[in-house]
Amino acid sequence: MEDLERDLLKFKGFYFQHKAFDTGFLENLDDFEIRDDDVFIVTYPKSGTIWCQQILSLIYFREHRKRTENVETSYRVPFLEYCSRHIDFGKTPSPRLFVTHLPYYLVPRGLKDKKAKIIYVYRNPKDVMCSYFHYLNTYPIFKAADSIEAFMKQYLEGKVLGSLWFDHIRGWYKHRNYFNIQFMMYEEMKKDLRSSVLKLSKFLSKDLSEETMDDVVRQASFENMKDDPLANNENMLYRHVGSKLQEGHFLRKGTIGDWKNHMTVEQNERFDMIFQKQMKDFPLQFIWDVN
Ligand code: A3P
Repeated sequence: MEDLERDLLKFKGFYFQHKAFDTGFLENLDDFEIRDDDVFIVTYPKSGTIWCQQILSLIYFREHRKRTENVETSYRVPFLEYCSRHIDFGKTPSPRLFVTHLPYYLVPRGLKDKKAKIIYVYRNPKDVMCSYFHYLNTYPIFKAADSIEAFMKQYLEGKVLGSLWFDHIRGWYKHRNYFNIQFMMYEEMKKDLRSSVLKLSKFLSKDLSEETMDDVVRQASFENMKDDPLANNENMLYRHVGSKLQEGHFLRKGTIGDWKNHMTVEQNERFDMIFQKQMKDFPLQFIWDVN
């Protein structure tokens, strides 16, 4: 797939978006200075990244909760590997909040010394795949297949930004003891957002009042974020991609199990076989029905 090379760049075994990233910054990322009170969200793409960015931003910034400032969520919690050209992270006041799609082996060394906190959000890989497919057909950030069948092949070969889903989650989980990390499942957040925010606030040692909790849960709901130009990522994507391919939204459906509307029985069985093989002996609990 020659177009892939135009849009994506493989750096140390991991696919990045070509246009948006600065090789120099990545070369020196190991030495990027980590502060004790930094917080990193880590995700594979389409797993609920912007959702977690919104939750953290609401927890940390009163002016966001109270809407007294007009700042996009994606600025409050910027991408480590994609924003280094625009933001001087060394000058950002603490506590700094970051988001990244990086695999465990590419993150700054300081994180491996258990400095800072990491929140890893993961989601049913079939829903991730369907979300990814729609996203790329709405915002063409890299060349992607135009049928689910063809995209499934691309995705299961890891020829997408973020590389292979299985490698990403396995790598982070296997090396979890090197990090101060909390795993969060998209499906659990969806089923009970309040409990998930509570879990996160405990991990972050943030004691939220009932009023604050209400504000966070309300403003992090799918419906609220979809209508909120500061939180729905669309302005950021317009700036970044320039145009849309077709009608669609970054916050598309926000549901569990949408893969059932897209995959055939045969595709599902094929996916399951690969899933079972790749995730055999993997202890992290998945509550979704893989079969
Ligand atoms: P869908 O395409 O299935 O709707 P990411 O930010 O990692 O790219 O993930 C985007 C996915 O997360 C999209 O999934 C989006 O709708 C979903 N999402 C974003 N905010 C959400 C929220 N508040 N509640 C549920 N899903 C949300």
